[in-house]
Amino acid sequence: MNTKNIDTIKFICESAENYIPLQVKDNSVQLIYLDPPFFKQTEMQMYCKNEKTLYSFSDKWDSLDSYINFIKDILIKCKSKLSNHGLLFLHCDTSASHYLRVLLDSIFGQKNFLNEVIWSYRRWSNTSSRLLESHQNIFVYSKTKKYKFNRIMTEYSPTTNVDQLLQDRIRDGNGVVKYKKDENENIFPSKLKNGVPLRDVWEIPFLNPKAKERTGYPTQKPIELMSKIIKISCNKGDFILDPFCGSGSMGIAAYINNCKYLGIDKNVDAIKLCEKRKNDYYISQSAIKDGNYQSFNNLDHEIKNLIVSVNAIPIERNKGLDGIYSSADGLIGIRVQRKNESISETINLIERASKTKPLLKKIVIKTHDSDFFEIVPDDIIIIESLEYKINNVFSNCENDVKKTSKKRCGA
Ligand SMILES: C[S@@+](CC[C@H](N)C(=O)[O-])C[C@H]1O[C@@H](n2cnc3c(N)ncnc32)[C@H](O)[C@@H]1O
Repeated sequence: MNTKNIDTIKFICESAENYIPLQVKDNSVQLIYLDPPFFKQTEMQMYCKNEKTLYSFSDKWDSLDSYINFIKDILIKCKSKLSNHGLLFLHCDTSASHYLRVLLDSIFGQKNFLNEVIWSYRRWSNTSSRLLESHQNIFVYSKTKKYKFNRIMTEYSPTTNVDQLLQDRIRDGNGVVKYKKDENENIFPSKLKNGVPLRDVWEIPFLNPKAKERTGYPTQKPIELMSKIIKISCNKGDFILDPFCGSGSMGIAAYINNCKYLGIDKNVDAIKLCEKRKNDYYISQSAIKDGNYQSFNNLDHEIKNLIVSVNAIPIERNKGLDGIYSSADGLIGIRVQRKNESISETINLIERASKTKPLLKKIVIKTHDSDFFEIVPDDIIIIESLEYKINNVFSNCENDVKKTSKKRCGA
């Protein structure tokens, strides 16, 4: 039975600082997620997908003090709305995170600081004079010590030693962790462990400009990130407040996770977009899956190895290209023939995928015999994979053996 109810997801066009004190009940909210302007001192602008609407909001402030006072005011208002079991997540970046952490401590108390989540992602922009920024910060605070926190377990890291999983451990007098043993030096088998608690560094892909989930709203957050925050802090039916809802990603995540939700934004275009998304949303592939780069990648292991072995760069999530090789004269695209693919299909796929790409040549790696492609385009080079060559040698050997044994039998 579908228990989700879209009517419990509401978006309001208002200033958060005016609306919240009057319209939200005290102590009623389980999760407050604040994603305010970050103090970028610029106008945040982006075109929506059809390039008809320019979405924008101002992140310009008279001074750092005026920014901090604005955030302080909203935090104080939010605190009174947060339930005693609730959690508050403040999203920011290095522009002002250091000031905001101090501010949060002063409002919620140092003792109610729970975590600084680092949302980490890959970016491809160019920077030469300093390191490429590829994370944002999310501070997590509770109002009291009675907060609700859903423990999420994750897989062990690949480097985990099997003994760590199967044997009980204790701390010795010096605090050093050791395997527990009885007087005869026999180990104690541990209870079945069900993973490790979720870390505070989350690898979640940034929505790239071509992602289907992307709406074109500047600073739009991935639904996957929003869902993770909900899973930690909410149960079904809990109420979420999002005072700076922007494109409404948290609202969509609230709906998916069966929560009630109120999103506020003073930008009328943002609220129109939220209403549109409410009826017709798309979650990127990574959001449906488990949320790491492994699940985001779709290139087969063997194909990836092949691409890497010729010093090319593997390309994920492209229908026709598996890799790009950078030669002295220009770029060369590579496509490996799949098991269920004829060579003409492979050629068509790489041709189509590279139409808009500045490729000097295209290499098709043939892995098996299929149809015969009569006219190979000039810029396509077909080479045979090692596997294909070895298989040919084996089948030739088999044929030779059959012929020799037939001769011996006088056939
Ligand atoms: C960082 S964006 C939020 C992005 C959003 N989380 C998303 O996933 O799309 C900040 C938003 O705060 C809104 N905003 C700025 N000042 C506001 C205020 N006083 N009250 C309500 N919304 C405000 C802006 O219009 C902008 O949409």
